[in-house]
Amino acid sequence: MMTITKPKVFIARPVPPEVEEYVGKHCTYSKWEGEKPLTPEQLAGHIADVEGLLTAGGRIDAELLDHAPHLKVVSTMSVGYNNFDLDAMKQRGIKGTNTPDVLNDTVADLIMAMMLSVARRVPELDNYVREGSWKRGDNESLFGLDVHHKTLGIIGMGSIGRAVARRGKFGFGMDILYHNRNRNEQAEQEYDAVYVTMEELLEQSDFIVLMTPLTDETRHMIGESEFAKMKETAIFVNASRGQTVDEEALIRALQNKTIYGAGLDVFDKEPVHPDNPLLSLPNVVLLPHIGSSTEKTRLDMAMRAAEHMVSVLQGGTPAGLIKELCD
Ligand code: DGY
Repeated sequence: MMTITKPKVFIARPVPPEVEEYVGKHCTYSKWEGEKPLTPEQLAGHIADVEGLLTAGGRIDAELLDHAPHLKVVSTMSVGYNNFDLDAMKQRGIKGTNTPDVLNDTVADLIMAMMLSVARRVPELDNYVREGSWKRGDNESLFGLDVHHKTLGIIGMGSIGRAVARRGKFGFGMDILYHNRNRNEQAEQEYDAVYVTMEELLEQSDFIVLMTPLTDETRHMIGESEFAKMKETAIFVNASRGQTVDEEALIRALQNKTIYGAGLDVFDKEPVHPDNPLLSLPNVVLLPHIGSSTEKTRLDMAMRAAEHMVSVLQGGTPAGLIKELCD
C-alpha cells in the first residue's frame, strides 16, 4: 500500500480548533503557542522544514524566506497582504494566498459604526454620562452631525467599498461618490455611485472613507493638501492601512479643526504609541485594527486561509491565490 506523506506546515497565529483540525487532516503541523505574537527571529526558527505557512501580519521578506528553503505557500488570514515582499516570494517561486470577500460585510459594518460614532460623538457622550455630567439645559453642546442623506465619498471601490456604498445608499439614503483606479460599473448601477476625481470627492463629501490597499502608489495618499480640500464638517474614516495616510497631517487637520473628526481602525504604527497625540483628541474614534474581528468572520477567514494553503500544497489553484505571485 502506498503511504502518502502529509506536507509539513507551521501555524504562526492562533486559529479556532476546527481550523486546526482541518489542517491536521491534510498536513503535519506545528503551531506557535506563545502568548505574544512571535518575533521574526522566532518565526525563522520554525520554518526550516515546512512547505506551508499559515499566518496573519508580520513581514514575509527575503531575510525570513532564506530560513525556509522548502516553503511553497504562505497563506494569510487577512485580505491585506502588504506585509508580503512579493519580489522575494516570486524569486523563490513561493505562492501567496489571502482571504478577500469573506470579510466585506463585517468590515463595512465597522466603517458605518465609525461614521456614526464620530458624527454623533458616541464615545465622548458615553463618557459624559458615565462621569455624571448630564445636566438639565445641556443641549447644543451635545449636538453632532447627521449621517443620513449626506454625501459619502469612498476612495477604493473594491468589494468592501461596495458593501459600504450599499449601507450608505439603502440604509441611510446617502449620495455615493467614489474614486478608484478603475470605474466600478457594478457600484454605479447598484448604488448610483458617481465616479469623480479625487479632488471632487474630497471637496464634496461629508464622509470620506478610505478603503484602498497599501501599495507604493497609495502610501501617504491622503496628506496635508488632501485634508485642506475637505469640508470643515467632513468626517474621515480609515479602515485600510495606517500608512495610506500621513498621520502627522491628519493630527494637524484634527487639531486645527480643518475637518470635523475621524474614525480610525488603523494607524501608522500599531499598537498605537502612548504618546500619539491622537489619543488626546476628542474628535476621533480609535479602534485597535478590528475591521474583521467578529467570531464568525475570523473563523471563516482562518478556515479559508487554511483551505487555500492545503489546496496549493495539493497542486490546486484556490480562489485566494495572490495574482502577482501567479506565473
Ligand atoms: C485584513 O484582512 O487585511 C484586515 O485588515 C484584518 O487584518
